[in-house]
This record gives sequence, C-alpha cells and structure tokens, in this order.
Amino acid sequence: MKDQRLERERYWNEVKAAAEYIKSKDNRKFEVALVLGSGLGPIADRIENVKRLPYSEIPGCPVSTAPGHEGNLLIGTLAGQNVVAMQGRFHYYEGYSMEKVVFLIRVMAVLGVNSLILTNAAGGVNRAFNPGDLMIITDHIGFNCVSPLIGPNIEELGPRFNDQTHVYDPQYIALAKQVAQDLDISLQEGIYYYTQGPSYETPAEIQAIGRLGGDAVGMSTVPEAICANHAGIRIFGLSCITNYAAGIIDEPLNHEEVLAIGAKVSAQAVALVEGMLNSM
Ligand code: HPA
Repeated sequence: MKDQRLERERYWNEVKAAAEYIKSKDNRKFEVALVLGSGLGPIADRIENVKRLPYSEIPGCPVSTAPGHEGNLLIGTLAGQNVVAMQGRFHYYEGYSMEKVVFLIRVMAVLGVNSLILTNAAGGVNRAFNPGDLMIITDHIGFNCVSPLIGPNIEELGPRFNDQTHVYDPQYIALAKQVAQDLDISLQEGIYYYTQGPSYETPAEIQAIGRLGGDAVGMSTVPEAICANHAGIRIFGLSCITNYAAGIIDEPLNHEEVLAIGAKVSAQAVALVEGMLNSM
C-alpha cells in the first residue's frame, strides 16, 4: 500500500510538472479543452494564434501511436475562447496504463479548465443511425473500462467515490441541440458504449450492446470522461458515426473507412463546436 501511495505521489508530481511546462509556454487561463478524435482533427485548423506543443516535449506525457492520431497539444483561441486541444489521444489498446491514458486530462484539470469537449469516431449500434451522423453523447456505459481512478485517490482533484449522474452536462446537451437547430445541422443523441478494442466487436457483442442500451460503440472517451467528471469538469461529448457496427449490415469494418467518414462530417462537427463555444 505504501508503494502505491509513493507511485501515486510520483504520478501527481508529473501531472503538476506537465502543467507547469505548459504554463511556461503560455500563461493564459484556458476555459475549454478539446479532445479531437479520429477524423475530427480538422477542428485543429480552426484554432487561431496556435502554439503547438508536441507530446514528446511535455514531461511525463505519453506519445500516441494510433493511425489518424497526431500527438500535439494545441493552445490558442477558437470562437473567441482560450482553448487547449489534444490533437491525438491515448487509448488503452495501445498498451498504456489507464493513468497514462488520462494523463493530459488531469493536466487540464490542474490548468483550471472548466469545460471539456470530447469527440470520437464510433460505430452505429442503433439501427436508426447511418455513417456520417453526429451523435450527442447523453451518457455512457463503461462496464468494460478499467477505471482510471483505481489506486490511491488524488484528493486535490476530486473525491474517492464520485457521482456520475450527469457525466455529460445537461446544459451543454441542450445548447448543442439549440446550436444545431440554428445552423440546420441534424443530430442524433444516445448512449456511448465503451469497448477496450483494438478488435472491432463481433456481431453477437453488438447485439448484446444494443440490448444493454448502447447506441454507439467505441474505444475511447469513457476513461477521459470518468477522469474529467471526477475533477468536476463539465463535459460535452460528440460521436461521429463512421460505420454500421459489426453485423448491422453484412460488411467488414476497416479503419480507413472510419477515417474517411470522419473527415466528411468534420465541417458540421466544427460548426457545431464553434457555435457552442460562443455560449460556453
Ligand atoms: N467499434 C468500435 N470502435 C469504433 C467503431 C466500431 O464499430 N467505429 C469507430 N470506432
């Protein structure tokens, strides 16, 4: 137990050191953080006066390896807000510990970020969904997710047993719907079901996920959401439905298709996020 506490102390010091490093590059107060998922990278091009901090230069920060995921922290302004954006995220299937997967989320918490926009690519489980749809994440199912909060609690960030009644901020969900209506963007909404990956699911798993209430399925976002919720950060989650989940139609899944559809809907995702930032 003593070793675990020492290990946690070392990790917490790493998080604080990374936050200090970022502050040394830009001492602004950042209100909103973004995590740019597969295919939704073009949001990065809209950030103004951008400073690019490669993950490899941030002390303690892992480096992402998934295709389609770059590895930079971007600092700048988007729709008039000071933002910090992760261009590339960390997935458990890459072999990182959950502590590393959520490392930069904790750094953002230390930087004082109030809001977090999580974006991802996901498979459509709900039969009313089609590739190219955008889905507001209203809640998630994380049974398959090893909690990033396991181990001695970091009291400075949040409580041991954190409430998860509203992981995805109801006001942000309402705001997204309003902005989408104003901009004539059609949106789905639903529950994001987390899987560890890296294999896509079997058709039997997708049937089970649908019965459990999942509308979309993916391999990210939930660790970050658990961690940000623990730290009291308000979250908005957006899935880009890139494919029919396995077995919904009789076609194999491939990652290139996921990236291509993501790129297609990114203009709408960008417009939605920018519209929301104006009121966040
Ligand atoms: N399953 C899991 N993760 C995904 C999928 C999927 O079908 N599509 C994009 N990410």
